[in-house]
Amino acid sequence: MKKIAIVFTILFFGFVNLNKADEGMWIPLLIEKFNIEDMQEKGFKLSAEDIYSINKACIKDAIVIFGRGCTGDLVSDQGLLLTNHHCGYGAIQKHSSIEHDYLTDGFWAMNKTQELPNPNLTVKFLNRIEDVTDKVLGNVAENLSEKEREVIIVANIEKIKTEAIGETQLIASVKPFYYGNQYYLFVYEEYKDVRLVGAPPSAIGKFGGDTDNWVWPRHTGDFSIFRIYADKDNKPAEYSPDNVPYKPKKFLPISIKGINEGDFTWVLGYPGGTMQYITSDAIKLIKDVRNPDRIMLRDKRLDVMNAYMDRNDTIRIKYASKHARISNSWKRWKGEIIGLERLNAIDNKVEFEKEFNEWASNHNEYKNVVSELTNIYGNIEKYVVAYDYYREAIMAVEIVNFAARFNDLIKMKDADIEKELRDIKIEELKKRMQDFYKDYIQSIDQEIFNELLPMYYSNVDQEFIPDLSGLGLSDNYSQFIESLFSSTIFNNKDKMLELLNSESEDNFKVLENDPVFKFYKTFNELYTNEVFPVYDSLDNRANNLYRNYMKGIMEMQKHKVLFPDANFTMRVSYGEVKGSYPRDGVEYIYQTTLDGIIEKDNPNIYDYDVPDKLKDLYKTKDYGMYEVDGTVPVCFIATNHTTGGNSGSPVLDSEGNLIGLNFDRVWEGIMSDMVFDPEQSRNISLDIRYVLFIVDKFAGAQHLINEMTIIE
Ligand code: ARG
Ligand code: GLU
Repeated sequence: MKKIAIVFTILFFGFVNLNKADEGMWIPLLIEKFNIEDMQEKGFKLSAEDIYSINKACIKDAIVIFGRGCTGDLVSDQGLLLTNHHCGYGAIQKHSSIEHDYLTDGFWAMNKTQELPNPNLTVKFLNRIEDVTDKVLGNVAENLSEKEREVIIVANIEKIKTEAIGETQLIASVKPFYYGNQYYLFVYEEYKDVRLVGAPPSAIGKFGGDTDNWVWPRHTGDFSIFRIYADKDNKPAEYSPDNVPYKPKKFLPISIKGINEGDFTWVLGYPGGTMQYITSDAIKLIKDVRNPDRIMLRDKRLDVMNAYMDRNDTIRIKYASKHARISNSWKRWKGEIIGLERLNAIDNKVEFEKEFNEWASNHNEYKNVVSELTNIYGNIEKYVVAYDYYREAIMAVEIVNFAARFNDLIKMKDADIEKELRDIKIEELKKRMQDFYKDYIQSIDQEIFNELLPMYYSNVDQEFIPDLSGLGLSDNYSQFIESLFSSTIFNNKDKMLELLNSESEDNFKVLENDPVFKFYKTFNELYTNEVFPVYDSLDNRANNLYRNYMKGIMEMQKHKVLFPDANFTMRVSYGEVKGSYPRDGVEYIYQTTLDGIIEKDNPNIYDYDVPDKLKDLYKTKDYGMYEVDGTVPVCFIATNHTTGGNSGSPVLDSEGNLIGLNFDRVWEGIMSDMVFDPEQSRNISLDIRYVLFIVDKFAGAQHLINEMTIIE
């Protein structure tokens, strides 16, 4: 029966989704054309128009870009929004102080007047998507050089954006898809008054911490709650006490009916970036060179931090957020290596490239593209390695990174820049300074510096080793570093403040001649002159080759619908609730529960210290309507193809009701940015019933539940 359907579809449309089961992040505008039939066959009960439409309110109107890298979901007619705890973390942290530590204790606004504004936090609604490929590429002649081509494309894009916005305050963005074979326009409306409404204590919102990160089974209550405010006409406005809760065109009903293995589920959100079509050489570079290098460098950083954090609670709090950031990618890189290895990813790509080259032997324009890419990878490797070391060894030293922030200000000295502009910069730097010193511990930084600098010197190509003898470096690194710390001003908050507050022109000299700034500047100049230009030009060429390669792949696989790599534009992923078999003798069931939290409980381990109040609820079994089989569901896994940026994305049921919040992926399938494995790749979601349980029973914030539409 199914076979007939596929044959029929090919005849009818000329293409079919032949991707590995559930692989793909699809453009909402094209769901009708490419996916809806497949989705409906798998259990989806709505239409493509219900997801994305410019004619009526639809689910896309309930989804926002939250901040700079996450997704948020509207859940009430008063602008109430859910996202992850790790997405709201910065906002929660900024409102925290010794007197009220919202990270540790959680925060709940018991009425709207208690909701906390967050300058600089915005959300963006997507108004519309348009395929502008013809407008971008229409007047680009075949025989142009890449430079000429680029100039025309940039001009076309500017024109499209200007026309799309007109006199409005909307934001337009045109992005390349399939490596520049297609272009799409996205028009957004940005709301600027977003207030913090609720957050569980970190012992719930970050439960399991870095130990459980990227791992199943999982018990993290990774959510936080915000509210969007608008002016009296429901339009975007800067923060004002007169603003009123935003009335969304659409918000998501919440289903607590429960989920079962095999249920259809889908995700609508903002995946940040994937690399599905890179060649075997690119995989090799990542798996065998870049990831091992970066892991090794971060190992050192994390080791030093861990030693300090284990010893002292104050230090642990100060470094928690830095540690989480560093360890997040570090752990993912490790998992990627194992996954790519297990899947034989390189051999499979080589096999595919053989096939491609055979086909290309009759298609002139693609004949050499793979081998030219191989050449590029051969040439670019040492620059990539150097660049990774620059970022992960040199700029990873906090004091060096901090000093680098002053580069722009120092440059303003020479240019004839108005005082006003300078003052703005200075104010900005003062703010940064507060953040920097609040969580800075020199001995940690110095130990890290001691570890990383020698590694840079022994592992990076000789031509990228700057001469630091003028600054006093001989072969004793730690002595050199000690001398930097004892003579710099950047580790002295009072002196720095005094300097920034005084008007003297000599201040520029002090900064410019500071040994740490000079250290940074020496590297920066070397990289600006010797690395970035070559790197950029090779990278550009690779991108142009990929454009051609991608075009070839699409031509060769005419009947296959290929999804474009993620690029932080709205996408639909769909799949089913499903466990997996990660290793011989081990099964991952699809769901975790409150019982598992209690199992992990250990007051002596920071990541597993369950709050007493939650333990009390467990003892009294006060679960209300969130109870299932004597417990409360906490997290579940499904086969949706997701990546970073999908954090906070709604996980929906076949009728478009919210059943979970996406926040992570399972370790064994983590290489899915490059190769998706239907057997192992799973997204991890927070079960919405756990969210409601915490809001209702733990926080006693029933007024929030009352705002939502709950389907029992
Ligand atoms: N792995 C998830 C993501 O990539 C969660 C990260 C935050 N949590 C953490 N323990 N670092 O963003
Ligand atoms: N935690 C990720 C984020 O912040 C989502 C998990 C993933 O990478 O799939 O976007």
